[in-house]
Formats: sequence, C-alpha cells, structure tokens
Amino acid sequence: MENLHSADKILQFDDAAKGLLEALGKKDPLMKDFVISRFKGVFFDPVAEEKTYNYMLEVSSILSAMASNPGTSIFTEFLYNGISSPLPGDSYVLESRAGRAVRSRLESVEANLFEIFEKNLQEKKNLLIGNFGSGPGRDTINVLSHHYRGRSGLKAIHIDRDRAAINRGIVMAKNRGLDDIVEFSCQSFMKYCPEEKFDIVVLVGVLCSLDFETCVNVLSTIKRTIKSGGLIIASNATPAMKDGDPFAYFLMNWLANWKLEFKNIKIMKKIFEKSGYAWQGSFTEKFGFHLMGIGVSV
Ligand SMILES: C[S@@+](CC[C@H](N)C(=O)[O-])C[C@H]1O[C@@H](n2cnc3c(N)ncnc32)[C@H](O)[C@@H]1O
Repeated sequence: MENLHSADKILQFDDAAKGLLEALGKKDPLMKDFVISRFKGVFFDPVAEEKTYNYMLEVSSILSAMASNPGTSIFTEFLYNGISSPLPGDSYVLESRAGRAVRSRLESVEANLFEIFEKNLQEKKNLLIGNFGSGPGRDTINVLSHHYRGRSGLKAIHIDRDRAAINRGIVMAKNRGLDDIVEFSCQSFMKYCPEEKFDIVVLVGVLCSLDFETCVNVLSTIKRTIKSGGLIIASNATPAMKDGDPFAYFLMNWLANWKLEFKNIKIMKKIFEKSGYAWQGSFTEKFGFHLMGIGVSV
C-alpha cells in the first residue's frame, strides 16, 4: 500500500479538507488514512470505513441530514444559516468550496430575482410567483421581505412535498410579516394545478440529480402552470463543481450515495428548448458551480 501520509498527496486537499483530515487524524489516524485512500480509490479497510462513516455523522449535523435524505432542504438551510457551534464535519462543509457555492447561489438567486421582478413590474401591475421545490422558500421570502413588504401586487406560492419544510416556511414568512402575500402548498409540483397561472416560476436545487430526459419531463410538465410569455428560472450544478471541489463530491457520494448530473450551459439550453421554453440567458454564482437558466414559456 502506498504511503498515504506523503506530503504531496496531502497537498492536493484544500484548506477545508485538510482541516477535516487533521480532525479525523487526531481522533484516530486510521480514519484519516481511510478517507484519503477511499478518495484516491486505492485499498481501503471496511472496518475503518464503518468507524469513519459513523464518526463523520457524529461530528456533523449537516452531513447527517444529507446522508438521511440528500434532497432535503434541511441540508441547504444549514448551509444558508450556518451553525452556531460547529463540530469538525460541519466546519468542513461550511468552509468547503462546494458549501460556500450553495450559499453564494442563494445570494445570486435573490439578486437576480429582484432584478427580474423589477423588470416585470415595469410592464405589469401584478406578479404571481411560484416557487417549486421551495423548501421553506428562503429566497423568495428574503426578496419579498427586503423589497416588497407592504406593497400590493406581488404574491408568491411555495410548493413543496416536504411538510416539515412547508411548516418552516410558514413560520419564516409570519416572522417577516409576509402572511398576506406568501402562500404554501404541500404537494408535488408535478401534479400542482394553480387556480391562476404564474408570471414567474423558480426551481432551485431540484434538477441537479436528474438526467436530461427527466429534466425535460419536469420542465414540460411545469409549463402548463406558467402564463404564455411567463418566465422560468431553474438551477443545476455545473461540471465546475466536480472539478473545483472533487473532495466534497467524493464525500457526497460516499456518505449519501448522492450523485449529480452536472450540466453545462449548452445542455441546460437544450433542456429548456426541448421543454417548450425560449432560452433567455443564464447567471451563475461566484464559484460557477451552479448555473441558473432563464426561459420564456412559448
Ligand atoms: C435541495 S432542496 C432546495 C430548496 C430550495 N429551493 C433552495 O434553493 O434552497 C429541494 C426541495 O425540492 C423539493 N422537491 C423535490 N421534488 C419535488 C416535487 N416533485 N414536488 C415538490 N417538491 C419537491 C424537496 O422536498 C426539497 O424541499
């Protein structure tokens, strides 16, 4: 077996990963060796794997949430909110490039939503916004509470099949004084039939693990809920995430069997067009790990 402590191997890890490996090594050098060897795809010991797996969940609320349900908004909410007393696994996730990119995606989505809302409000008095797979709906709730509280004409409906996420959103909206312009519906957005069609639909953090054809199926199905000429903003992880933070992607795979279908701008454009939307453009967060496509329903 190769010498896994060699400096040249360790140097391939970024500071966040080095911090985690150091913490593992302090607890038990075997756990550090296991993670390095598993990441490198060389021999690893299943006894060390069991011990390390259990320990990783013990030292991270974030990784525990991810391992029990990779698509849960509990995971993303931890990334947005941070953790007051983080254990080593949590510190790693919060400091990792992949973790910071998710936080950056929220900022970027909020800034762009505000711009899009403003542009649309120049042409229309009323805007009906649908947030599909909203989790608690932090992005739309933040934009509405920062810019539109007390202003009539905007309404957002959040649709998520996770009752706990919906309940969390209801509390969030109430605490920001938005009860009158924010609604929630606990169901699958694939079956959702709105009374009135949406001007803008937001779909963030939902498509990443779905293949090309499933994404086309999702976007085509959603189309019936959007007004002709209405917009959809949908996100996906890009290949830059896998290249820019391979260690985080390795941990997602190992701990949660979570595999992503990375899509570049060309693939996203094809998905939009095949689903009946005219491609309007896109934006990314500052790491380029997440791309948000914008399409017009035609
Ligand atoms: C990773 S979370 C993202 C939450 C939020 N959009 C964000 O950006 O923080 C994905 C959410 O999509 C929801 N979801 C996935 N598929 C869904 C479906 N078919 N109908 C309703 N909700 C769905 C999950 O329940 C989960 O809350």
